[in-house]
Amino acid sequence: MEIRFATSKATAAFRDRFAAVTGNREKLSPDNFRQSNSLSLSSIGIGTYLGNWDSDTDKKYTEAIVEYLRLGGNVIDTAPNYRFQRSERCIGEALRETKAELTRDSIFVCSKGGYLPFDSEPPSDVANYFEENFVKTGVAKFEDLVGGSHCMTPGYLTSQIEQSLRNMKIDGLDLFYIHNPESQLAEVDRYTFEARIAKAFEALETARSEAKINFYGVATWNGFRIAPDESVYHSLERFANIARQVGGEANGFKFVQLPYNLAMPEAFLVPNQAVKGKALPTIQAAEDLGISVMISAPLLQGQLAMNVPLNIRQALGALTTDAMTSLQFVRSTPGVTTALVGMSSREHVVENMALARKRIASPDVFGDLFSGRQSA
Ligand SMILES: NC(=O)c1ccc[n+]([C@@H]2O[C@H](COP(=O)([O-])OP(=O)(O)OC[C@H]3O[C@@H](n4cnc5c(N)ncnc54)[C@H](OP(=O)(O)O)[C@@H]3O)[C@@H](O)[C@H]2O)c1
Repeated sequence: MEIRFATSKATAAFRDRFAAVTGNREKLSPDNFRQSNSLSLSSIGIGTYLGNWDSDTDKKYTEAIVEYLRLGGNVIDTAPNYRFQRSERCIGEALRETKAELTRDSIFVCSKGGYLPFDSEPPSDVANYFEENFVKTGVAKFEDLVGGSHCMTPGYLTSQIEQSLRNMKIDGLDLFYIHNPESQLAEVDRYTFEARIAKAFEALETARSEAKINFYGVATWNGFRIAPDESVYHSLERFANIARQVGGEANGFKFVQLPYNLAMPEAFLVPNQAVKGKALPTIQAAEDLGISVMISAPLLQGQLAMNVPLNIRQALGALTTDAMTSLQFVRSTPGVTTALVGMSSREHVVENMALARKRIASPDVFGDLFSGRQSA
């Protein structure tokens, strides 16, 4: 029988294998793996967003992902539109290359759907591309597109799940996110938006029942970081309620993804969510709602790999590099499951995964960092 998803048993075995000293490889820190939905997930995940759409970058990404898996990472994040489906194909390649050492059920593979993926490169005529690939095939209509590039109708999301599975040559996605749903709020009112989310969640519950995906969520950029009165704001409790209405208590809405880093600390600091009437920051609201938090852009797209102030470096353990310091901040934040770091370079994988051998920073550091006490 084919293996479709990461399992509790295989991810725990993966964790235990990397917790042991083998040859000259040092063991990973016991707090490097977190429990989420009975799975053991690495605190450092690999993201695949940035980079050119060329074969040199494909080769680099494939090597980086292979190295990441061999160093004890088991969370991979992607989307079909990342490098026009090239990133997903690199992941497929890396999974096949490591098949003899690592089974599919030990690795948590996440993708998204929402943006038009294109194929290997941007088309010269987007309307023609959409018509040929989605309208003529009956997947979506022109009026389903928002902003000329975003779609979250049930048929479109289902087609994107199939596309991701084909690109990676796997049988199931552990996690499928609706990609930046807030894009729709720029064009439709909140009532229409929530009706679309309910339809989308229904389709994702169907994909779960067909064992195409195991969990679903929303991956956002601004939605969870801004004030409730802003037009593209997202309420996490509303999403959770819609999922419960659509899928019952055992619904699959179990993850959110959002940016959080030393320069964008809102998700930990700003109480812009309400759970049962109590104002909470997004990370804490997610914890209360039983939803795991995956972090994008922990290095602010590379900008936090340099010029981190000395007082912050010291507070976070005087680590060797600024990139490690910035990642340590994110992976140590209480309530964070995984920091997804974009890494197309093998060298960056080696540097960042060295952090997985270190214990996370104590929660006290966060009080000190945000009160300014560390700079006294
Ligand atoms: N809305 C969304 O859904 C959304 C938005 C953004 C990101 N994401 C996800 O989150 C992942 C992470 O975000 P991101 O890739 O935008 O930004 P990021 O992780 O903050 O930064 C990635 C950049 O940092 C560089 N880097 C990594 N390790 C380094 C090190 N040790 N020293 C110096 N530079 C280093 C990478 O270079 P190399 O490539 O050369 O290794 C890359 O240019 C994405 O890949 C994607 O999977 C999701």
